[in-house]
Amino acid sequence: MILSKQHLILNSKNSQLLSFLYKRRSAMSTSGVNKIFENSLKLPSLPVPTLTQTIDKYIKTVTPFLTESELKNTSRLLNEFSSAGGLGEKLQKLLVERAQNRENWLEEWWLNTSYLEYRDPVVIFSSPGLVFPFEEFKYEIDRLKYTAKLILAAVQYYLNIWNDKLPVDKMGKDPLDMNQYKKIFGTCRIPKPHRDTLEFNPNSKHIIIVKNNNYYRLDVLNETGDTPSLHELINQLTVIAEDSVDSSSPIGVLTADNRDNWSRAYEELIKDPTNEASVREIQNSLFLVALDKPMPVENDSRRSMASKQFIHGGGSKGNSANRWFDKTVQFIIGEDGTVGLTYEHSPSEGQPIAAMTDFLIDHIRNANASNLQATLKTAPKKLHFNINDAIQRYIQTANANIDKLASNLDMDSFQFTSFGKEFVKSQKLSPDSFIQIAMQYAFYRIHKTPGAHYESAATRKYIHGRTETIRSCSIESIAFSKTMLDSNKSVHDKITALREAIQSHKKYSIEAVNGFGVDRHLLGLKLIALENNVQLPELFEDKAYKLSGRMRISTSQVATKCDGFMCYAPLTPDGYGCCYNPRPCDINFGVSAFADHPDTSAKRFREALEDSLRDMRDVLVAGQPAKL
Ligand code: COA
Repeated sequence: MILSKQHLILNSKNSQLLSFLYKRRSAMSTSGVNKIFENSLKLPSLPVPTLTQTIDKYIKTVTPFLTESELKNTSRLLNEFSSAGGLGEKLQKLLVERAQNRENWLEEWWLNTSYLEYRDPVVIFSSPGLVFPFEEFKYEIDRLKYTAKLILAAVQYYLNIWNDKLPVDKMGKDPLDMNQYKKIFGTCRIPKPHRDTLEFNPNSKHIIIVKNNNYYRLDVLNETGDTPSLHELINQLTVIAEDSVDSSSPIGVLTADNRDNWSRAYEELIKDPTNEASVREIQNSLFLVALDKPMPVENDSRRSMASKQFIHGGGSKGNSANRWFDKTVQFIIGEDGTVGLTYEHSPSEGQPIAAMTDFLIDHIRNANASNLQATLKTAPKKLHFNINDAIQRYIQTANANIDKLASNLDMDSFQFTSFGKEFVKSQKLSPDSFIQIAMQYAFYRIHKTPGAHYESAATRKYIHGRTETIRSCSIESIAFSKTMLDSNKSVHDKITALREAIQSHKKYSIEAVNGFGVDRHLLGLKLIALENNVQLPELFEDKAYKLSGRMRISTSQVATKCDGFMCYAPLTPDGYGCCYNPRPCDINFGVSAFADHPDTSAKRFREALEDSLRDMRDVLVAGQPAKL
């Protein structure tokens, strides 16, 4: 592994530097390593759709939300905007110029506006949880053994990334950009007023273990690539477990607070050199491992409880302080065998994290298959913090805030076992679109109104690509929902409406993964106007824009082979979060809502979704010719 000792801060000015650094690393390699990242840099640039492409699509996506006269008004605004010599033409020209001068015209804007400038806490508002297959730990030593295996598997994965041993992800035949993988380990978000930054420390050799709010540094690599043996790691984890019986000050809860609060607390915290040194150890580490205490007792299923543990940790009486939420990856190991992770979303999408998860699960189950040079002797170093009165007050505020957030998250995560994607494929339909349309139907049958619906589509066919929005609520999805709920409609009518809704969704998905959705282009037009002090087009004030962008159903497919699933909170106070993992014969769902909203309930959505999926299967089966 050939890495230069770099400590890189990514902000809006130097995101280009990052890709330069990657190129440089590749160029430094004598054995042709890091080819996958070099190849990623050869991918095409994200296209800028034409105004006509976006506007034609946009008008269709807003139609379900508008009355006839509102639709007429929106059409008029869009005509004005896109007419020859109009504001749209001017902004489009500026956007195309920007795209000509960058590898990816959206990358820096997206990172800043969606993540680093966003001031709400990363907990609930941004960071997902990922629940691994459950384990059973009878004794503490079982948990420590599992943790040691997990650590070694993660170190192996880190080495695979940097030694060019990852298979290149593909969409069909197209290779995908692999750069997000490089940001999984060694990355940390740093709180700053107005806009946070990201720091990358890919040469790091240590990890952090946290238990009862006590943080320990543990070396897991040396310069020659040696790692501790499994036995050595278990011994050191035992030392940590015995040393951390008493709880320390809940300093980690500060990272769960609003970013402006946290940035002020951070300034105060690092004034003290001991604190600063401890914080740096955490920030520079490869990843963090949290050994949790039991979660506060609730009446939830194990999957829902695990979702809460990995999204927010259970509040100040639970494990919310036993974290450092700015760290990209924190593995979490509960006493009862609930295992998983939480990740800070800004450097990576869920799919690379899911691919890593499958590797870890395989590796843990075959721990003997490791090819690490397991000869490193290691010993934990406890990190110390001095807490003054000002920090104490910040902690109190952060405790109160996380308690409010945690108690307001309603989860109903479940495994749908009636069928999986193989059944849908057997009907010659896209499984992803089938599930999306089931969510549309579920929302409609509960609320009797169209639900604006966000699905992430990966745009990693393009250099540094992240996502585009698939607007899953369509004229066809609403027509389908109404048809299903109409007892006068025949099976044939229902099947026709179902296939039309699914095909319309699939068409949008294909356009979105190719960079031709509407949301990123509209965002680009808006931001280029702001950057150039050009008056904001009226369409951004229009009801159509507001209603169709108020995503009451926030969804993404995050696929793992193992029995895991990702989960996160809704995007709107009256909305749902619904992340899913379609597997051959079942589908895992992480469903969320906010407890304080009278119109929504995770349980109700789960029930409606299960009913919708089964209803859809039943009409398809009913429409099949009977076998003789
Ligand atoms: N008949 C039979 N089979 C079909 C079919 C049809 N009409 N349509 C699709 N299939 C098959 C596909 O060939 C594929 O087969 P495979 O499992 O052998 O590969 C399978 O069904 C799945 O395809 P589909 O369900 O259509 O969707 P997808 O897997 O292509 O996923 C997206 C679609 C949009 C989810 C995906 O492109 C994507 O962007 N994923 C990333 C999402 C993301 O960013 N998540 C993280 C956010 S944090």
